Amino acid sequence: MSEETKIHGLNDLKAQSRLGGGQARIDAQHKKGRLTARERLDLLLDKGSFREVDPFVVHRTHDFGLDEQKFMSDSVVTGWGTVDGRLIYVYSQDFTVFGGSLGEVHAEKICKIMDMAMKNGAPIIGLNDSGGARIQEGVVSLAGYADIFLRNTMASGVIPQISAIMGPCAGGAVYSPALTDFIFMTRNTSYMFVTGPDVVKTVTHEEVTQEELGGASVHSEKSGVCHVAADSEADTLYLIRKLLSYLPQNNMEDSPFVASDDPLRMEEGLNNIIPDDANKPYDIKEVIGMIVDNGQFFEIHENYAQNVVVGFARLGGHSVGIVANQPAVLAGVLDIDASEKAARFVRFCDAFNFPIITFEDVPGFLPGTFQEHHGIIRSGAKLLYAYCEATVPKLTVITRKAYGGAYCVMSSKHIRSDVNLAWPTAEIAVMGPDGAVNIIFRKELEAAKDPIQKKAELVAEYKEKFANPYVAASRGYIDDVIEPKETRPRLINALEMLSNKRDANPAKKHGNIPL
Ligand code: HXC
Repeated sequence: MSEETKIHGLNDLKAQSRLGGGQARIDAQHKKGRLTARERLDLLLDKGSFREVDPFVVHRTHDFGLDEQKFMSDSVVTGWGTVDGRLIYVYSQDFTVFGGSLGEVHAEKICKIMDMAMKNGAPIIGLNDSGGARIQEGVVSLAGYADIFLRNTMASGVIPQISAIMGPCAGGAVYSPALTDFIFMTRNTSYMFVTGPDVVKTVTHEEVTQEELGGASVHSEKSGVCHVAADSEADTLYLIRKLLSYLPQNNMEDSPFVASDDPLRMEEGLNNIIPDDANKPYDIKEVIGMIVDNGQFFEIHENYAQNVVVGFARLGGHSVGIVANQPAVLAGVLDIDASEKAARFVRFCDAFNFPIITFEDVPGFLPGTFQEHHGIIRSGAKLLYAYCEATVPKLTVITRKAYGGAYCVMSSKHIRSDVNLAWPTAEIAVMGPDGAVNIIFRKELEAAKDPIQKKAELVAEYKEKFANPYVAASRGYIDDVIEPKETRPRLINALEMLSNKRDANPAKKHGNIPL
């Protein structure tokens, strides 16, 4: 056979491999409003940068007639490429081959690429579109999943791991994403469940659709499993590229520097943003937008536990993680979901060298039987633990309320925050004036001829004494009280001052965060 013929043979094989499960199944995929595994890679990666590995791999199973159905590349496309010129490793499951289900070689291909990502210190992105364990391969599929789960866990905190859910994902196909740092979903075409609607009906007699059981709105609003929900597959992949721009390649690196707008910019609008009435809301996202570079904020968990806001931004060109109480939702109170959302984000920031900027306006933890019975004690402790153990630069700005345990939790000086600033509108005390007066002056109020008048006097006295930043500042718990408009330059200056910060926790195998 001539060399030319051999080259033709190679090209034919590669073309066959690229066809996945064949044109009919590709058409069916498109009909469902979904792209193919390879079309998704084209949108995610820089043009022409994808280098595929293992395009000739086929499964080795004989049972259930599988030996008569072999597809080169099996049901996953793997390799590496670049996003904005930076290396990433990627796998993209091919639903046109056995529904993207995971068998022995599918798992081997993913493990190979994960091992390379770990060894070479670059993020791994998984585009998931899979019916879970390949039923015909039995326990070998389960073993393959376990091999991946182990690698997900070993890679956690070493390289960023991002999962996109691009189709119906069941069983093992949701547990690997659940071990990664961020899960993206596409509205109306992607679903996540441990067991699908059919199994649910058999076991619980409940009738639900895929959307009701595990659609993007369920997971981005109710369960919190999904971090970012997008309207189309193209949007989902675009948002992953955007997130990557904030991230370092691995835990030994800093994030890329991006030249910023004026680091000394004063923002006069901040001097008027806090309402005169301390019980009136304002939008903390507006505050964040006025402070960070170019007003750009990449929010994580935008529609879940909205009483706390978390996400990435840049300050003076450096990536930072932002955690902020949101007075516009439930008065910014900390509840179970908000505590867990913020705790996980703080831990990601700490693992990947993001300075943490905390904007604090919190009336406390949410009281009530639901919260107590569902473990607010444990959940609040997660956030406390996460902030306590974090050794990255930590900066806190108290804009208004810092009451009770929430004062301690939200990156207070006492738990190793580096620079804590307060606006003159800050109120730092054990509890708000109304609650405090009711407790400490109960007898006086009962004895008063005019309890309403008496209470107003006592509240005024309490506010005068405690509802300000100066008691804390007089003890050095607050490093300085600043005009709100100065916040951006003050934070950027503090970040520069902390750029060589070194801090460590005692040597141990690992701590025991209250999970
Ligand atoms: C083998 C599978 C498969 C699977 C789908 N297919 N899932 N083949 N193993 N797990 C095949 C179908 O036979 C079909 O083949 C093609 O993929 C497309 O599937 P459809 O059902 O036609 O597609 P759709 O109607 O869109 O439904 C998609 C789906 C459904 C919701 C994912 O296929 C489904 O419920 N699959 C089973 C999900 C599941 O229970 N998986 C096991 C989980 S247990 P043809 O040849 O017709 O194209 C698990 C254990 C790990 O994962 C646990 C770790 C903790």
